[in-house]
Amino acid sequence: MPDEKPKFYLTTPIYYTNGLPHIGHTYTTVVADAIRRYKRMRGYEVVMTTGTDEHGVNVERAAQKAGIPESEYVARMAVTWKALWDELGIPADEFVRTTDLRHVRTVQWLFKLCKENGYVYKGHYTGQYCIYDNAFVNDAKPGDSCPDCGRPLETITEENYFFKLSAFQKPLLDFYKKNPNFIQPETRKNEIISFVEGGLKDLSITRTTVHWGIPVPGEEPHVFYVWFDALTAYLSAVGGPDYENRGFWPADLHLVGKDIIRFHTVYWPAFLMAAMLPVPKQVWVHGWFLMDSSKMSKSKGNVVLPRPIANMLGMDAMRYFLMREVVFGQDGNFSYDALVTRYNSDLANGLGNLASRTAAMIEKNFVGKIPKPGPRLPQDDAIARVASETIGEAFEQFENFAFARSLEAIWTAIAAADKYLTSEQPWALGDSEADTQRKAAILWTTAELLRIVTVLAHPVLPDSTAKVWALLGQPGRVSAVELDGLRWGQLATGVQLGKAQALFPRVEKQEAIERIEAMANEELNPAPAAHAATASGAAAAPATAEKIGIEDFAKVEMRVGQIKTAERIVGADKLLKLTVDIGTEIRQVCAGIAQYYEPEKLIGRKVAVVVNLAPRKLRGVESNGMIVAASVGPEGRPVLAGFPDEDVEIGARLK
Ligand code: MSP
Repeated sequence: MPDEKPKFYLTTPIYYTNGLPHIGHTYTTVVADAIRRYKRMRGYEVVMTTGTDEHGVNVERAAQKAGIPESEYVARMAVTWKALWDELGIPADEFVRTTDLRHVRTVQWLFKLCKENGYVYKGHYTGQYCIYDNAFVNDAKPGDSCPDCGRPLETITEENYFFKLSAFQKPLLDFYKKNPNFIQPETRKNEIISFVEGGLKDLSITRTTVHWGIPVPGEEPHVFYVWFDALTAYLSAVGGPDYENRGFWPADLHLVGKDIIRFHTVYWPAFLMAAMLPVPKQVWVHGWFLMDSSKMSKSKGNVVLPRPIANMLGMDAMRYFLMREVVFGQDGNFSYDALVTRYNSDLANGLGNLASRTAAMIEKNFVGKIPKPGPRLPQDDAIARVASETIGEAFEQFENFAFARSLEAIWTAIAAADKYLTSEQPWALGDSEADTQRKAAILWTTAELLRIVTVLAHPVLPDSTAKVWALLGQPGRVSAVELDGLRWGQLATGVQLGKAQALFPRVEKQEAIERIEAMANEELNPAPAAHAATASGAAAAPATAEKIGIEDFAKVEMRVGQIKTAERIVGADKLLKLTVDIGTEIRQVCAGIAQYYEPEKLIGRKVAVVVNLAPRKLRGVESNGMIVAASVGPEGRPVLAGFPDEDVEIGARLK
């Protein structure tokens, strides 16, 4: 077919289900999503895979601790992971669970191929095993700790199937030589080549001491070693045994963190070679985001959660920070301070300010229509040159996975446009024919640069660039712009600007950090039901059959309150922050009614308030009481309880 698009297949690791997603996992998924968007804009048909790694001892233990069967435990966790990626706007095209039937079949098929080709044999193995990393540690002695995570190793002896990894030393070294880009960055490649040159030992690929795993057909109680199982997920996602029909195998790109490099660059290609299947084209190894210079883990209590950041600053801000702050491939420190600083400087004052300023001036001077450019001056051409060079630079750096550099180039162009506006001062020009023409040239030039940076930044900032695109009144969707055809001078003129909207409202650093931290705290220590209901829009309470005595009811102190102020909360689109006069004092109360009540219309309204609830923070904002509302319809629309017919006294108790 002549116009068939080229295919591109990329993967993130599949994440362990015995933990919860944090910013480190989000990092890989965000990068994968940005590459996916970029490739689509370059005309590729792209599939991006992520998923959950659901087998192994750790899951057995976690399920046991939770008192539920493993299958139920992993089903819940898979929902948690998948729902988060969906919520954050980074859903996979293929989400593989290692308990999926398609995956189980693929693992069993891969094993069969390896065995038929003579690369699998039965033997006994005694070794030191890290149950947290699901790996035997070669050369470790009893009592040693895991070199990766530092936790104690366990001695395990069992009958295993072995994979003849030793037979692949030469084929792997030849493969690395013939495919010099297989392992990136370069330093990682050298590390792996030395490791393989040092000799490879055969690898046990089944277990009898573990029961929660994919069974080896006809060989029960053998189950597959988690890494033989997990790596195969990349293949199961795109057809498994039927991969040729889907046309996405071999993968173009596996994105992995530095801790799992060997599995991906030594074991995985060896398994595939043994099965005589095509080997992936590239493994790109990134570093870690560290908290106080150490890896994040729940046990250390230093995990950074993605949702509170997305709620407070928007997902684009988080994406921008992750890809701009640290050179891809190296470790970097995560800090809320740096995050909010970048948000204010690069997004609010940079892109956001350029967009709103440009739009406001076009609105004022050209009735909101993009003007046709008047005669050009050298300084206008200089901006055109900056934009054209930025296109080349941003592409080149992105292609090399130098995302920080690519963004830096784009933001240099934004700064050039700011400087240009400041020196050209279109606001100081009058209404004469010549001045109007000059204003048209300046504003057209600025808007054209803005259009170009908007297209270039789209893979990293999908939501806000779509808004700028609409603001500029440009046709179609920004995601549909073909990157390869992007040139200076394509700005549609005469079109009406879209509605102005706040792109990146500036935030006060300390307050933003406190709010993010408070939200993270709420997520780690979930709220009791009553408060949760106010936060989520007065969820419908099930009718309960259980009766309570009057003394139970009397414990709830409800009073008539009058709303004094009401405002929206940045980062919490369902909540309003109210101050309510309850007779004896004025209280701050948050209510999950923002989607149904305009804040201005609530002022002066009398409402029923539960006043003796323990205070707590909702989305980082202190709430000291609860406004009573009916929950109506399947979506639980809140309707405020009130006193329309009588002039009731503020503070009167409801009994
Ligand atoms: N389940 C295996 C991968 C199997 S892939 C066939 C696994 N899971 S994991 O959940 O522990 O880690 C998944 C990825 O998240 C790894 O690439 C790891 O490097 C990455 N990260 C975990 N914490 C991280 C940071 N703090 N920073 C950046 N990435 C980190 O390993």
